[in-house]
Amino acid sequence: MYGTWEELEESIQNCQKCRLCENRKNIVFGEGNKNADIMFIGEGPGADEDIQGLPFVGKAGKLMNMAFEALDIDRSKIYIANIVKCRPPQNRVPQEDEAMACLDYLRNQVILVKPKIIVLMGSTALKNILGNEYGITASRGKWTEKRGIIYIPTWHPAALLRDDTKKINFWKDLKLVLEKADEMNLQIRKDE
Ligand code: URA
Repeated sequence: MYGTWEELEESIQNCQKCRLCENRKNIVFGEGNKNADIMFIGEGPGADEDIQGLPFVGKAGKLMNMAFEALDIDRSKIYIANIVKCRPPQNRVPQEDEAMACLDYLRNQVILVKPKIIVLMGSTALKNILGNEYGITASRGKWTEKRGIIYIPTWHPAALLRDDTKKINFWKDLKLVLEKADEMNLQIRKDE
């Protein structure tokens, strides 16, 4: 584990730990407030993220931003990262060995950010962080505590693009995050 962001970011620059390095244009390391109280974790970069080197800048990210905007969540106050840092071909789900190879980077990011709350967006984030025994349909919207961090799974924003009916629960889950943040006096809302 690296003790500083500089060391960690440098360590990933030429990463060749898995096959996803072969076709990447950019590593999508993560973005946001490095001292955030609340961290959001997705699956892996898509085409737009691969080109820009930033997480959630494509269609799913735009939908997520719209929900944030409507609920008064300030994206610059949170930290956003993914399970894998390089784009899987055709946006397929990362394979187990790819996720395993990449997880130490994410663990190191969590250690450096020290979030109090982690929002797990989608099944890939849920299973890789809390365990394969968790299913997104049953777990979403429910809090789980592990080693001093509280986790809440929710739909991945890309799932909302495929199925409109999931939007309401994504929205409800974000409201739970806001309520918990207020209760714990954590920073996530836009300044007045
Ligand atoms: N989907 C993800 O899981 N992460 C991104 O950064 C973009 C889309």
